[in-house]
Amino acid sequence: MDITFNKLEHKYQPHSPFERLALYDINSAISSGSYVAIIGHTGSGKSTILQHLNGLLKPTSGSITIGTQTIDPTKKPKDLKQLRKKVGIVFQFPEHQLFEETIEKDICFGPMNFGVSEKDAREKARKVIEMVGLSEEYLQKSPFDLSGGQMRRVAIAGVLAMEPEVLVLDEPTAGLDPRGRREIMDLFYKLHQDQNITTILVTHSMEDAALYADDIIVLNKGTIMIQGSPLEVFSETEKLVKVGLDVPEVVRFKVLLEQKFGTTLSSPCINQEDLVKAVQTLVRGEA
Ligand SMILES: Nc1ncnc2c1ncn2[C@@H]1O[C@H](COP(=O)(O)OP(=O)(O)OP(=O)(O)O)[C@@H](O)[C@H]1O
Ligand SMILES: [Mg+2]
Repeated sequence: MDITFNKLEHKYQPHSPFERLALYDINSAISSGSYVAIIGHTGSGKSTILQHLNGLLKPTSGSITIGTQTIDPTKKPKDLKQLRKKVGIVFQFPEHQLFEETIEKDICFGPMNFGVSEKDAREKARKVIEMVGLSEEYLQKSPFDLSGGQMRRVAIAGVLAMEPEVLVLDEPTAGLDPRGRREIMDLFYKLHQDQNITTILVTHSMEDAALYADDIIVLNKGTIMIQGSPLEVFSETEKLVKVGLDVPEVVRFKVLLEQKFGTTLSSPCINQEDLVKAVQTLVRGEA
């Protein structure tokens, strides 16, 4: 499903003394099947933008179009049910929302809420628990007997059981160890590739943004500051640093190399492979 933001604005608690302009003048397009990363300093509006993608929040002016549905300030909540089925959101610390006595019941909750039979929901639970790297035996356990990383996987399985067309991830690996982080990020990437799921990732990791995303949106104080491919975005080092963001380590390393060797590397450098090539060029004296 293509997604378009059209002059989207969001104010929290409008017309009150606590009014807060969280997003303004958001114009952007995310094409179906792409992988987009949203980065930005804390409070820049990342989570607010995500919640517009399945109608949890409505614009206070402007609109967002997801597939065939446009949400503007006049939209009624009852029209949004179908959208919630198609757009799955993995919130920050999703394991905080686990509540059923068994993992199976927790995973089945979403699909059954949308009219899937118990038998079919259980079938889906068996499928998704394996997708997140846990065996079928886990289904009868209590989610509260698991480690933090396993609970995260179960919560993610609950979102996948809805078979979303768009997957929205709000820092899905926060608080996990490096290995768990990599496994979860690889899982999402595989889903994106195998099933063509449009993926929108909010992350503080510039490495993940560079590694996985086709496009990056940089938010600053409620509006889009830069938007483009990882290469385009991470070429704007000065702008990023000014707003408290960083560039991937390989980009910093490339700049250091250039300073040390007093040269400019012509080839782009956004991941480790590029960096290896750049270093090879340097040692061969070809730069
Ligand atoms: N429920 C709310 N009521 C009032 N203001 C809010 C509410 N939620 C967020 N805000 C404000 O809106 C702005 C954007 O918040 P948001 O949570 O979208 O930022 P974020 O980029 O996700 O930050 P973080 O990186 O810390 O998760 C912030 O100034 C925040 O204080
Ligand atoms: Mg947030």
